[in-house]
Amino acid sequence: MTSKIQRIGVFTSGGDAPGMNAAIRAVVRAAIYYKLDVFGIMRGYEGMIEGDLVRLGVRSVGNILQRGGTILKTARSKEFRTPEGRKKAYDNLGKEGIQALIAIGGDGTFNGLHALHSEYGIPTICIPGTIDNDIAGTDLTIGFDTATNTAVDAIDKIRDTALSHNRLFFIEVMGRNSGYIAINSGIAGGAGAIIIPEEDVSFDDFYNRLTAGEETNKKSNLVVIAEGSKLGPANELARKVAERSSYFDIKVTIIGHLQRGGSPTYADRVLASKMGVAAVEGLLNGQSDVMVGIRENKMVYNAFDSLTEFHPIDSEMMRIAKILSI
Ligand code: F6P
Repeated sequence: MTSKIQRIGVFTSGGDAPGMNAAIRAVVRAAIYYKLDVFGIMRGYEGMIEGDLVRLGVRSVGNILQRGGTILKTARSKEFRTPEGRKKAYDNLGKEGIQALIAIGGDGTFNGLHALHSEYGIPTICIPGTIDNDIAGTDLTIGFDTATNTAVDAIDKIRDTALSHNRLFFIEVMGRNSGYIAINSGIAGGAGAIIIPEEDVSFDDFYNRLTAGEETNKKSNLVVIAEGSKLGPANELARKVAERSSYFDIKVTIIGHLQRGGSPTYADRVLASKMGVAAVEGLLNGQSDVMVGIRENKMVYNAFDSLTEFHPIDSEMMRIAKILSI
């Protein structure tokens, strides 16, 4: 490694995800291992614009591996989307002598980093951290495994009350426009139906499948629905079903931000650790304007321009879900 980089900045941006702290720790420890100085930038691009930076030492990241959230805090910055905002941010980086950046976040974070790199040439690497698992170029994003386990835990608990009361529950999970959390938690939680944005299904088809159970006296059921569903959110869908049939006693649970918190699973901790080290080593080896990813269990570097597609869901998952939900 013959890099001239001596001082880097690390930050988290967008929605927090369990495992972000493990990624911060890995970046800081790997950077110090390779004799680099590290600054943490607080509140993502907001802190960059305001010059809110803190020096991080090897012990600053002790005892955070197992903690949810992000010690660097996070934000979604409107100002950074403007060239003026990015100029302020770049000037603040210059004041601290920061020569390269590692960001942990989702696609909005990566877009911002690409803009900064294009305008000022600063070397940048993004680590995918979002519960949504909606980013192309990586099989998994940091936080997805933990969030999905949280959703499965909630589904298991709701099943108890659904069975006891003979109820139909609509359980809405997060994921923005992606159905990754829904399809995986739905299969793992034994849902009677799973609704994801990636699959086109009409209300009539869904309703007919749902009410087919009446013939076999199926009294309780669980529908897992992604928040980005094209059939509308859980409340709306439940209302439409109730308008047509009084057979079911219907309830709705929106799991919401519970899915963003909590201690990361071992899988997220290991993924974050691998990605943090890969990001620092990538910078030192001349990688820039790339996102670290894991593909078929190998670390890869994806050029920004190659990430034009949405992360697709394997159609095999949808086929399995249908077979098992009869
Ligand atoms: O991107 C993560 C995510 O939790 C999405 O699943 C959800 O749509 C969104 O963020 C919620 O954002 P906020 O926390 O800003 O309400």
